[in-house]
Amino acid sequence: MKLEGKVAIVSGGARGNGFAAAKCMAEEGADIVIADICEDVATIPYKMSTPEGMAESVGKIESMGRRALGIKCDVRKVADVENMVKQVMETFGKIDILVNNAGNSSMVAIADMDEETWDAVLDTHLKGMYLCCRYVLPHMIAQQSGNVISISSVGGQRGFGMGGHYCAAKHGIIGLNKAIAMEVADHNIRANVVCPGTVWTDMMKGIAEFFGMEEEEAKDNFFQGHMIKDPEVSPEDIGRAVLWLASDDSRCIHGNMITVDSGWTAQAP
Ligand SMILES: NC(=O)c1ccc[n+]([C@@H]2O[C@H](COP(=O)([O-])OP(=O)(O)OC[C@H]3O[C@@H](n4cnc5c(N)ncnc54)[C@H](O)[C@@H]3O)[C@@H](O)[C@H]2O)c1
Repeated sequence: MKLEGKVAIVSGGARGNGFAAAKCMAEEGADIVIADICEDVATIPYKMSTPEGMAESVGKIESMGRRALGIKCDVRKVADVENMVKQVMETFGKIDILVNNAGNSSMVAIADMDEETWDAVLDTHLKGMYLCCRYVLPHMIAQQSGNVISISSVGGQRGFGMGGHYCAAKHGIIGLNKAIAMEVADHNIRANVVCPGTVWTDMMKGIAEFFGMEEEEAKDNFFQGHMIKDPEVSPEDIGRAVLWLASDDSRCIHGNMITVDSGWTAQAP
C-alpha cells in the first residue's frame, strides 16, 4: 500500500471531493482526520455538512480498517485550526499529509458584493489554507517530512462572472502554494495543487438550485467546457489525483498543479 502508516488531515472532508480524497488515501493505508465546519455559513446559499454527515463519513473510513477522527473545525478561525491540529497530534502523534480542501461559494457580481460575502469565501479558501499550513507545517518541519495538497479550481486559472471572490481565492491558492513550496523543500516536504473542473457535488447542486436550474440544465451549463463529457469528472477523479500527489509516485512533483478538467482549460474559454 502506498500510504501505509501515514496520517492525513482533509479539511472539508465530510463529503464531496474531500471525502473522496480521504477514501482514496484510506484505501492505500492512511489514517484520516476529517476537519469540517459542520454548520451553515450566512452568505453561502446552500447547506454545509452536518455533524451527522461527518460522523457517517468517519464511520465509512473506520469500516475500511483505518483509524479516523472527525473534528468540527472552521478553517477561517485561528482557534479552531490550532485546536484541531493539537487534537490530531495528541491522537496520532504526527501529521504526514494535509489536504486543504474546505470550500464554498456564493454567486454575486463584484458591483453588488458586500464585505461579508467576500470575506466568507476568501477566508474559507485562502485564509483557511494559510491557517492550516501555519499550524501543520511546524510539525512536518520537526519530523522532516510531509506533503501538502491544496484544492484550487479551473477558477484559479480563468475568470467566472459572479464568482470574483471564488476566482480570487482560487488564483491565490496557486500562488500561495508556490511560495510554500519554496519554504519547505529543504525539509523534505512537498506542496502541490489540484484544480478540478466541474464536479457534481453538493456545492454545484447548491449553485444550480440558487439559479433555479434543474440538474440537466445545470449540467449542460456547468460541464460545457469539458471536452470529455462521458465520464463526468467525479469526486473520485479528484481523490485519485490527491492520492497520486500524496504518494511517492509523484516524488519529483513540487510547487506545481494538476488540472482534472477533461480538457476545459486546454481551449479558449
Ligand atoms: N465541485 C466542483 O465543481 C469544484 C470545482 C473546482 C474546485 N472545487 C473545490 O473542491 C473543494 C471541495 O468542494 P466540493 O465540490 O466537494 O463541495 P462540498 O460542498 O460537497 O464540500 C465542501 C466541504 O467543505 C466544508 N466547509 C465549507 N466551509 C468550511 C470551513 N470554513 N471550514 C471547514 N470546512 C468547511 C463543507 O461543510 C463541506 O463538507 C472546494 O475547495 C471547492 O472549491 C470544486
